[in-house]
Amino acid sequence: MAILKIARMGDPSLSQPAEPVADPTASEINQLLEDMNETMVDANGTGLAAPQVHVRKRVLLFMAERGSSDQEEVSETEHAPLTALINPSWTKLSDQMSIGWEGCLSVPGLTGAVARYCHIQYQGYSPVGELIKREASGFHARVFQHEFDHLDGILYPQRMKSLDLLVFTDEAQRHGLPNINQ
Ligand code: NI
Repeated sequence: MAILKIARMGDPSLSQPAEPVADPTASEINQLLEDMNETMVDANGTGLAAPQVHVRKRVLLFMAERGSSDQEEVSETEHAPLTALINPSWTKLSDQMSIGWEGCLSVPGLTGAVARYCHIQYQGYSPVGELIKREASGFHARVFQHEFDHLDGILYPQRMKSLDLLVFTDEAQRHGLPNINQ
């Protein structure tokens, strides 16, 4: 196990498409995922893609866990346990999009509002070679789309329609987030 160095915006690792993995069950992929998990937990992140740790492979990790503040039962598709996916793919299930706040371990200190599809279906291989196929909505769909973008060399600021909605996280904590519907 090892905590890996996280690439930051401007590092070429983050701007180039990642390569498909030939064997999802290869020991090097299992080791990579263990290290990515340790790195993500250490950095207090909710997702991490291999290019963020300087590995140009189509491997990602995320979680979309039920918050303790959830007042009422929401759709199961809004949540996912810690999930590792190798060679993932996805499609939208509707054209509906929503704007929400995102951060990224490769863009430290900033928070930005990004439009993402609300309902998607994704699939990919687990580290034991099982095909995982899920529907996702809400935060679960958002975090997946964010991590998947890393595999195509895209960071969330490139998805933003208005840079008025890119702020320093600590300033937002002090002054509140800007109105997302401006
Ligand atoms: Ni990110």
